[in-house]
Amino acid sequence: MGFMTKKAFITGITGQDGAYLTHLLLTKGYEVHGLMRRTSQFNNARIQELCGHLPLPGGASLEERLFLHYGDSTDSLNITTLVEDIQPDEIYNLAAQSHVKVSFEMPVYTCDVDALGTLRILEAVRQARLTEKTHVYQASTSELFGKVQEIPQTEKTPFYPRSPYGVAKLFAYWMTVNYRESYGMFASNGILFNHESPFRGETFVTRKITLAVARILNGLQSHLELGNMDAKRDWGHARDFVEAMWRILQHDEPGDFIIATGEQHSVREFVTLAFEFVGIPIRWEGTGLEEVGIARVPFLSADGKAVGFVPGHGLGNVPMEERVVVKVNPDFFRPAEVETLLGNPEKSRSVLGWNAQTSFPQLVHEMMEYDLRKIHAD
Ligand code: NAP
Ligand code: GDD
Repeated sequence: MGFMTKKAFITGITGQDGAYLTHLLLTKGYEVHGLMRRTSQFNNARIQELCGHLPLPGGASLEERLFLHYGDSTDSLNITTLVEDIQPDEIYNLAAQSHVKVSFEMPVYTCDVDALGTLRILEAVRQARLTEKTHVYQASTSELFGKVQEIPQTEKTPFYPRSPYGVAKLFAYWMTVNYRESYGMFASNGILFNHESPFRGETFVTRKITLAVARILNGLQSHLELGNMDAKRDWGHARDFVEAMWRILQHDEPGDFIIATGEQHSVREFVTLAFEFVGIPIRWEGTGLEEVGIARVPFLSADGKAVGFVPGHGLGNVPMEERVVVKVNPDFFRPAEVETLLGNPEKSRSVLGWNAQTSFPQLVHEMMEYDLRKIHAD
């Protein structure tokens, strides 16, 4: 019998995780279908950069393996039609308005996409009579734990979401459980803790930091403004975490899995490590709104051209000064904050054989390296 190519349907394919997951599935020989929003300019830069020149199994071309479909998680008919047409073996529901702070500004839209959008996927599988064939992965989140009731968090820790985003994801979590229990569907939740990469959106704190530090080291930005620097997160690498998504759908039984590193760091520690990547120490002074980070960095560029840190060459003889490089700006505070998240990944280790491969310093270094090169390429 010939080798059967598995078909995967990824919503949110243009996002950080969508791009890494596409890379993983293409290298495993999958036919990948993705839901892509219509935007005024093409929005597939991450997929292009990660997968554009990927050698595929059997010498297949990208055009033979990757299919992007216009659509939107808020459009029930579109979702149902696509699921019926594609008849996927696996669905990865990654589409979401994924920014926690933005969800306070757009709560209704966030719930439409993140909560009802998940229901639309589950119901489309049922309507298409695919409940016995299609495995569904739901992108659940450590934001479900919000005001944490236990440290570290496990699959049994009670939920206490702290944002419209978290509440919408709670609905999606339970709908996934409900379709599994009601219709025997293979529907699983991956409860993923924060995961980052050079392809992280630029308004999430890690990428905001690495981009800003790269600009400061090249004289293109005077300082970085942040909100709550005491917040602690369990930060892993997106490349490792999409491997866990795939493993969840290959397991014998559906279920709910924490995916985390088991280690946490504060926002302040992330900033410190980003500067230390190029050997620059940062000194923290003051508290609360008055807290600042001070470092010796290149003067601001007079003509807006990058001067300073050149990857592979270091800082060279650029004139330097000591100045405030980090300030607190309350505009970046949230109406309700999630102060601390720390996952216990024991179940995914023992049941799925999954382990995070990338350490916290490796993650920060990879992001800094990428953004320093980006500054000089732009
Ligand atoms: P991301 O980079 O923000 O990507 C979100 C994706 O969803 C993008 O492809 C986006 O399309 C798409 N999308 C947004 N609204 C949509 C709509 N109305 N219809 C169709 N697609 C829509 O997020 P990510 O970091 O890759 O995260 C992937 C998923 O995992 C999300 O569900 C997120 O909530 C969840 N999650 C993430 C983390 C994390 O730390 N990264 C942790 C736990 C859970 P555009 O490109 O057009 O905007
Ligand atoms: N974005 C941002 N910008 N966050 C800041 C800033 C800032 O200037 N300053 C401090 N923070 C703090 C936030 O208050 C939060 O406590 C922490 O940094 C992390 O913020 P984000 O990077 O925006 O991520 P998040 O933890 O709120 O949400 C991400 O992780 C969730 C999983 O726990 C998103 O990817 C969610 O989609 C995901 O579910």
